[in-house]
Amino acid sequence: MEDNKNKSTLIMAEIMPHEKENFGGHIHGGYILEVLDRVAYACAVRYCRNYCVTLFVDEVQFKEPIQVGELVTFLASVIYTGKTSLEIGIKVEAENLLTGVKRHTNSCYFMFVALDENKKPIRVPPLEIKTEDQKRRFKEAENRIKIRKKVQEEKKKIK
Ligand SMILES: CC(C)(COP(=O)(O)OP(=O)(O)OC[C@H]1O[C@@H](n2cnc3c(N)ncnc32)[C@H](O)[C@@H]1OP(=O)(O)O)[C@@H](O)C(=O)NCCC(=O)NCCS
Repeated sequence: MEDNKNKSTLIMAEIMPHEKENFGGHIHGGYILEVLDRVAYACAVRYCRNYCVTLFVDEVQFKEPIQVGELVTFLASVIYTGKTSLEIGIKVEAENLLTGVKRHTNSCYFMFVALDENKKPIRVPPLEIKTEDQKRRFKEAENRIKIRKKVQEEKKKIK
């Protein structure tokens, strides 16, 4: 039977290929950003079952370089929903397939707005908060959004 329930998590993994190596011998940061964008989009659209556009990409952090041949897993989840917007958090883990050692290499947040067929913002299904962890992450997202709006207002003042 078809399962149309709103899925709030998505996991994608791939082995890092040689052709994405940068001049320093690691995986190109731009490639990781490209995959992050795809994973976040898939997580947002699958959750809403609506086309979504990216409004913000926040706190992209490259904590450690990723090596060619490592298995990189992108763990995405919907962590916040507003009326028409939603935030996806992604944690990136790189695993050395020979040793099994895993490292947390990146984290970031993508904000999307769901659009209807006329490209107008449309309501997103409210996120079901079940755990203390989800509650904390939702609150953190609300704070991030507040800070972002404040920074934008301040920037307007100095223009
Ligand atoms: C996303 C877009 C449709 C929003 O248009 P808009 O006229 O600002 O729409 P609204 O005012 O109805 O806001 C929609 C949501 O975005 C949020 N938002 C919009 N601008 C914001 C800002 N500057 N800061 C924080 N949140 C913002 C609103 O709070 C609202 O969320 P909510 O409904 O959950 O409260 C428009 O900005 C757009 O088309 N951007 C380009 C997207 C794009 O091309 N992305 C790259 C390729 S996918």
